[in-house]
Amino acid sequence: MFHRPRILRNSNSIREMVSETRLQPSNFILPLFVEEGTQIKTAIPSMPGTYRWSLDLLEKELESILNLGIRSVLLFAKVPDNLKEDTCREALNPDGLLPRAIRFAKEKFPELVVMSDIALDPYSPYGHDGLVKNGRIINDETVIALAQMSLVHAQAGADFVAPSDMMDGRIIAIRNELEKNQLTETGILSYSAKYASCLYGPFRDALDSAPGFGDKKTYQMNPANRREAIKEVQADIQEGADIIMVKPAGYYLDIIREVKNSVSIPLAAYQVSGEYAMIKASAARGWLNENEAILESLLAIKRAGADLIATYFAKEACNLLE
Ligand code: PBG
Repeated sequence: MFHRPRILRNSNSIREMVSETRLQPSNFILPLFVEEGTQIKTAIPSMPGTYRWSLDLLEKELESILNLGIRSVLLFAKVPDNLKEDTCREALNPDGLLPRAIRFAKEKFPELVVMSDIALDPYSPYGHDGLVKNGRIINDETVIALAQMSLVHAQAGADFVAPSDMMDGRIIAIRNELEKNQLTETGILSYSAKYASCLYGPFRDALDSAPGFGDKKTYQMNPANRREAIKEVQADIQEGADIIMVKPAGYYLDIIREVKNSVSIPLAAYQVSGEYAMIKASAARGWLNENEAILESLLAIKRAGADLIATYFAKEACNLLE
């Protein structure tokens, strides 16, 4: 026998020395939900341990996030029913909840990297990411709205706008809109390869944004496709994306690796609400060890090639890594 691979696994010290992958707090992006009101911390039943925050309570939460070493949050707003309109007008309101949340976060914590979701679903009575006409999701008018929405968020101080809608041509439209308005320091994190997944269910509970008719398969990708992810990613890079993202993460590790091998800009992956819920639910029954499941799921995403991981487990993971 010439090789004894177990030598490199003999002790914790050796294992750490030769570890090929390491998770760090600065790898994580924490998605956060905000809602109107004061003194509100609403539990989300299908995402135990995750909340919707009113802005006044957000300050403390952001402080604890920064103290753990997390550098970035990704903000989502729950929009009240009476503001959901066919035109999705509220998405462009400079005094809407999300722009206010961005301003608040950047005023209190200038060093925090604030990212904001760009898509119309929370603002649409149909729960679709784009504008709806005659039962169809219309691309080009949606893209104009998304570019304007990005401008509003950039003007509010967002470091990155994060379009999650999967319309064609939105990255170049957003980049042009930012350039036209001299917002040359705002980044674009593009959800480039976002699949039409069952794993967004708990998120749609959190924002009450489930599609009112049909599904999202005419814009989100078919889970059967791998080559198409490369095409989407390359288009977004050419259009000016600064960071690209694959979503979901855990079921799509092959996509993460394939994309990683074909690009030279930072790659993010989104461990989505359903991935979170699956771990939480089985841990609650004692079927999986929660801490081990969290770290292994995140390590796998990193090993597959993600530089950044958007995850609802960001805080727990930082505590576990300490
Ligand atoms: C909306 C959006 C969704 C998620 C992020 N942005 C839901 C969807 O596309 O229906 C999902 C995130 C998650 O499940 O954690 N554009």
